[in-house]
Amino acid sequence: MITYSVSQMPSKLNCLIVPLFEEKGMDSYIKSLDKEFGGVISDVLKSKDFEGKKLQTSLIYTKDKGISRILLIGLGKEKDLNVKKYKEVVGAAVMTCQNKKMDKLGFFVQPGLIKKYSAKKVGLDLSVASEVAAYAYDEHKTDKDAKVTKLKNIEFVGEFNVATKRGLEKGLEEGILVSSGVNFARHLGNTPPTIMTPEYLASEVQKNFKSIPKLNVKVLNKQEITKLGMGCLLAVARGSEHEPKFIIAEYWGADRKRKPTVLVGKGITFDSGGLSLKPGQFMTDMKFDMLGAASVIGAIKVAAELKLKKNIIALVPAAENMPSGTAFRPDDILKAMNGKTILVENTDAEGRLVLADGLSYASKYKPKEVIDLATLTGACMAALGLERSGLFTPEEKMNEKLSYVSNSVGEQLWRMPLGEEYSEAMKSEIADIKNMGGVGGERYGTASTAAAFLQVFTDYPWAHIDLASAIYGSKGKPWIRAGANGFGVQTLVEYLR
Ligand code: BES
Ligand code: MG
Ligand code: ZN
Repeated sequence: MITYSVSQMPSKLNCLIVPLFEEKGMDSYIKSLDKEFGGVISDVLKSKDFEGKKLQTSLIYTKDKGISRILLIGLGKEKDLNVKKYKEVVGAAVMTCQNKKMDKLGFFVQPGLIKKYSAKKVGLDLSVASEVAAYAYDEHKTDKDAKVTKLKNIEFVGEFNVATKRGLEKGLEEGILVSSGVNFARHLGNTPPTIMTPEYLASEVQKNFKSIPKLNVKVLNKQEITKLGMGCLLAVARGSEHEPKFIIAEYWGADRKRKPTVLVGKGITFDSGGLSLKPGQFMTDMKFDMLGAASVIGAIKVAAELKLKKNIIALVPAAENMPSGTAFRPDDILKAMNGKTILVENTDAEGRLVLADGLSYASKYKPKEVIDLATLTGACMAALGLERSGLFTPEEKMNEKLSYVSNSVGEQLWRMPLGEEYSEAMKSEIADIKNMGGVGGERYGTASTAAAFLQVFTDYPWAHIDLASAIYGSKGKPWIRAGANGFGVQTLVEYLR
């Protein structure tokens, strides 16, 4: 665990991180620090070795016993700075120091940023970015030296008054909770698929939520799932040795009469494609096919720990999609919980099937709104690249709010269309709908046709986030290590506040 402190004067540190803008000199605080250290910072700036370009770094060794190093890191041009970039710079600085085995860091906070965003928001972003950067999935490394150094303390320094210090501390505190949800989601996602089965996912949720007040978990087994008529979830799980689970986490933080927001996450613990087997190179990384589930689980955990005065439900239809003699087949016709029938054209389009039952179940709550998160389509990746997730919703208000909050936490969403042509494309001649379809050609518009499929199971205000691209957003970057990146947790938390 990292501890955080806020102070005017840095104490004993392995390194003081000093972020600087391009084309802008030192703040008065840094100027006086520079003087104390005999002008080492201004020497570097004069030399033009370091110009403050985004993520540019310069490590300076001082002769000081208290602060032995100063890491300059570029923020880029001040006018171009946003939350996403700031967090990336913070994370990159933390990772740079951590990779050099430093564990006591200082970080200079610019007064200008506090003015622009508020002290609390800056504190929140600082701790989230630091914790996300410090996390490593390294429990399978057997070489001790290859393990990441555990950070002990980060001290935030600058010219603070009582109010800004308190604001920063409050933000840091909240950020610890938010990032613990993000890193929990990442941890679930990173766990190998032979371990991360539906029952393991359910037990991890139960174990981790047990001590959180007002957060209750119920796990439905195969028998209960059958009784509810969740024919799609059952079908997808049929080829696997592992039974499906339907995970329900409820957080009633407000009056029970107030309608809840329901989150639904795709929980395919491994997607081989089933009998419509994926080619080898497309099967790699399919342990990440439960990242929608991981994000809604992470988000409700944070919401409960922040004690939000909201009613929130998280639903996870969890199954493993495998080929075998008992597997469901192309040409099968399934019946979802809401009674609709579905022709299976491709068993690899399984996410929409389990979500059909998840979204149908959500109706039971007469929800205010439902947001589903799913690693649903390769087509969404093809459309948006790896740095944004697709947002599909017929609700203007949800679109506006989700776009705004995602931007404010530095996660990027891009609205994609729903519409009649996509819904038409999913109609079947022998069942109500089919699980595959395109507009004007089998391969066209298939992120939207997948969303239009989901829409059939909604009778409430609804938004769908396709985060297939986000899972590949984390090959490892200067500010985040390889593996699951927890996309969506922060957006959901901010949305729910
Ligand atoms: N889990 C995949 C989608 C996916 C692909 C997520 C790549 C992340 C990275 C999903 O179940 C799937 O296989 N979708 C198919 C649908 C098709 C068969 C209609 C796809 O996108 O190719
Ligand atoms: Mg699939
Ligand atoms: Zn899938």
